[in-house]
Amino acid sequence: MIKSCVIGWPISHSRSPLIHGYWLKKFGIEGSYERIPVEPEKLPAFLHSLADNGFAGCNVTLPHKEQAFRLVTPADEPTERLGAVNTVFVKDGKVLGTNTDGEGFINSLRAGAPALGIRNSRVIVLGAGGAAVAITNALLLNGAGEVVVANRSIDKAENLRKRFGNRVKPLEWTKRNDQLSECELLVNTTSLGMKGQEDLQIDLTMLAPKAVVTDIVYVPLRTKLLAAAAARGNPVVEGLGMLLHQAVRGFELWFGVRPAVTIELHDLIARDIDPGYKT
Ligand code: ATR
Repeated sequence: MIKSCVIGWPISHSRSPLIHGYWLKKFGIEGSYERIPVEPEKLPAFLHSLADNGFAGCNVTLPHKEQAFRLVTPADEPTERLGAVNTVFVKDGKVLGTNTDGEGFINSLRAGAPALGIRNSRVIVLGAGGAAVAITNALLLNGAGEVVVANRSIDKAENLRKRFGNRVKPLEWTKRNDQLSECELLVNTTSLGMKGQEDLQIDLTMLAPKAVVTDIVYVPLRTKLLAAAAARGNPVVEGLGMLLHQAVRGFELWFGVRPAVTIELHDLIARDIDPGYKT
């Protein structure tokens, strides 16, 4: 019996058990994937005893990603640079950590907007929190030419420039509409537009017709930003794709099989988010 889990605080809304449970069943693997609430003060003890408690690893979500990074051995150089982990695995008795958020984002874009070339592209990222860091890093690693980061607190966008170099261009939050005509990809990494949060205020009038628009928010599945973009004919990629694609490598590390993100899986999770969802 191979065990994994997702830890966070709170964790009750996580869809990861549904995703990994689907794959476990599909492959007939004798394994489990639980949802475990872990308070921040208890994170060191939890990770320390992970292997003793019979876990092959775990996913790590908010607010633990940075603290977990400091508690485990980074498994690779990109993770070391990022300073945050979302996937932990035990190997040769060692607790290692990696981050699959970036590849989840990129693979979701590749699947959802195959015509988009990231290399040399001009991207606008809204927000500069943890998700923006992982996404900006992934975009730059994939050759994006320029990543304009618009954030309410400009110092956080400035920190991204210091961290990743001059391909990152900080932009005042109030100027977020002004550079849309030049961009090929617009990404919302803020929580604005999420169910229960304020809406994201943005005017897409100047957005280039072929620009791809994506959102990390996946509740609702189609945010107002995505609906507005789709209504004017822009290609859109929903946030659920990133959630599904970031789960692939963790499953492979723990259970030894690389799973696929299928339409069946997508629809299963989409229906959990929105019971009225139709393919
Ligand atoms: P995460 O690590 O998940 O990305 P976060 O660090 O709290 O979460 O980041 C949330 C992002 O949403 C930030 O960029 C935040 O802007 P600030 O850095 O200025 O706080 C942005 N955000 C949240 N509420 C916002 C609002 N009402 N208007 C503009 N930006 C907002």
